[in-house]
Amino acid sequence: MASRSRFASRPAALAALVLAAGLLGACASGHAQSALSPAGPVAKVELQLIAESLWIMVGVFVVVAGLLVFALVRYHERSGDQHIPKQVEGDSRLELLWTIVPFILLIILAVPTFTQTFALAATQTGPNVLDVTVVGHQWWWQFDYPSLGIVTADEMHIPAGTRIELTLESADVLHSFWVPPLAGKEDNVPGRKNTMWLEADQPGTFPGQCAEFCGTSHSEMRLLVVAQSASAFTQWAQGFQQPGSQPQTPQAQDGMQVFQTNCSSCHAIGGTTFQGGQTASGFPIAPNLTDLSAHVTLAGGTLANDSADLIQWINNPQALMPDAIMPAFQGILTQTQEQDVAAYLEGLT
Ligand code: CUA
Repeated sequence: MASRSRFASRPAALAALVLAAGLLGACASGHAQSALSPAGPVAKVELQLIAESLWIMVGVFVVVAGLLVFALVRYHERSGDQHIPKQVEGDSRLELLWTIVPFILLIILAVPTFTQTFALAATQTGPNVLDVTVVGHQWWWQFDYPSLGIVTADEMHIPAGTRIELTLESADVLHSFWVPPLAGKEDNVPGRKNTMWLEADQPGTFPGQCAEFCGTSHSEMRLLVVAQSASAFTQWAQGFQQPGSQPQTPQAQDGMQVFQTNCSSCHAIGGTTFQGGQTASGFPIAPNLTDLSAHVTLAGGTLANDSADLIQWINNPQALMPDAIMPAFQGILTQTQEQDVAAYLEGLT
């Protein structure tokens, strides 16, 4: 009886699994990091191609598996039956059939795939296109807006309903820029400029992730695309064009001094004399911290942007992101100094 009840519970377990998957799928709708919930024209075309090939393959599977099952049931050897069935080897009608049908199916797949691949690879130009350069670093993303004079990190703000032409570069090793709800992935290759474009239909926040193994903390190399209405985007851009970078409290004032001595040779802040440092190939060494208070996240999109996380990061980045390149300030700065720097940075508007 025990074994029977185990059997009886299997369909129940299966049903629970299917239900759980359905519920998780429901959570994942909205702005999940999923190519199955597209939120812009590029991702929609790509999902359509995925769906077309999937349904053709499902059709082929059903026909082939159906014929196989039919043949097994209808024509299997019966006891006492010694008769050899009619041989169909070299039947030209069958040979033609299973050559022509896959050929037609491949044409049906190839035409939209080729057309859309070229359409999506075309460089977007014109007065309504916004250019953004995306540089992969171990382990953060640099976003430059040459037409707006903005350099920022890890969170790419874009106006919704606008085509964004991206130029992808790398400051060190191979990375891959991937925001599944908006577009397929494209590699950031050192010494090369790859391009892609994307667009968000509506305002919203879309999570992304580096999709090419790039070292110890590859999995910590996340990003957010923040799509905004035109007016909200302009307001965000003004935060960089007219940055509020003067310390507003005595603590922040102290923090600015600490920053100048310890941080400013790597990190730049707009509206100050802090220019940051550059790599041999001319990329910023570290994230630009202008308007830091406008960020939702810190450190490659892995931490919340609040004083507690920021202090922890300054104190020991490697504890939060293995092999992080920024040095730990544990033992170099006092606890008060770390708090002061955090106060200064959180006050940047
Ligand atoms: Cu960058 Cu993985």
